[in-house]
Amino acid sequence: MTGIATSVFDGLPPYPGGKRRLIRLILALINDALPHECWRDATFVDPFFGGGAVSIAAKAAGFQVRAGDIAERSAIVGRGLVANSRHRLDPRHPLRFLESAKTDHLVAEPAILRQLLGPRRAFARAAWLALSDQRDAGLDRDLLAIVAIKLILRSFPLSLPNASDAGHVVAGDYDRLTSARTSHYLRHAPVTAEVIVRTCAAVNASVFAGRATFTKGSALDLLAADADVAVLDPPYPGTQSYERAFRLLDDYLGDPPGETNPYSGSSPPIDELLDACRHIPLVVLCAGNAQMDEEGWAALVGRHRRVLKSIAVPYRHYAAVASERKNATNCEFLILSSNEARR
Ligand SMILES: C[S@@+](CC[C@H](N)C(=O)[O-])C[C@H]1O[C@@H](n2cnc3c(N)ncnc32)[C@H](O)[C@@H]1O
Repeated sequence: MTGIATSVFDGLPPYPGGKRRLIRLILALINDALPHECWRDATFVDPFFGGGAVSIAAKAAGFQVRAGDIAERSAIVGRGLVANSRHRLDPRHPLRFLESAKTDHLVAEPAILRQLLGPRRAFARAAWLALSDQRDAGLDRDLLAIVAIKLILRSFPLSLPNASDAGHVVAGDYDRLTSARTSHYLRHAPVTAEVIVRTCAAVNASVFAGRATFTKGSALDLLAADADVAVLDPPYPGTQSYERAFRLLDDYLGDPPGETNPYSGSSPPIDELLDACRHIPLVVLCAGNAQMDEEGWAALVGRHRRVLKSIAVPYRHYAAVASERKNATNCEFLILSSNEARR
């Protein structure tokens, strides 16, 4: 497990809630109940794929991975970096489209462009024109979209495109920003050829041989088939919804706005989710502490399955903007359970 090269994560976009920091712990928990030697023969389901850290680590660890997510922003990463085990992006491809996209277009441009400073906006616009022209271009389009997503998100503090001060920067209204935020925006402005080539190399580092599929759709559908292990990492209740945080990015990618998913709401359908895992021997549920403590989550899982172990991990969620009290008390829980009879 510790043999997973850190470079396999390099291509993943920095979506919030990613489990890159916790994935070794999650795999160690699974190892306690299903030893590492058995992983080659085991199927691993990741129905809340997000930015892909869980699936990419499971693929690198040798599992047969079945990943899925409802959002196109995740499907692009799932197809491009997890289901794809061979095809890499030629860096000349994004450089070429940057050259060819300088002509004016009459189509309505996506709103996120208005939140980006000039040099980055030029790149994001050229990438968007290339992506719009290549609707059916398969893996090259997905890999190109990942490069664009990584470079666009880097423009925003905390990688959140709904940052309320992005518009002030574009308008030159620096009085309304703290100096730390201003320096973030300015530091990440230029997208040079060198930056593009480096980003392509990072994306290509996440393409490696292994066994994985990705299906865009609902978690409950993905969980219906047989599997040996599932990691459930739904959006945490009481946190900002992905649909809201990523509205501008989803629009850029041509994904129409969807309803807020119920997991972000105050009554997340966790019972239904656990019920859908009845046939899966091992399940790890990831949960936050905004609404419930560790005992509460363990009791909820215990209504459906036998809890084998639960771990609380201190977590600084958006540490730079969270209050001191939140930074001190924020915590995530990992709850490992089995579908063997409860004791
Ligand atoms: C916390 S993130 C997952 C993070 C991921 N484990 C990682 O390491 O990057 C939750 C994801 O669940 C997805 N999602 C929300 N509701 C869903 C549903 N009903 N079915 C499938 N995916 C869903 C969201 O689009 C989001 O990408």
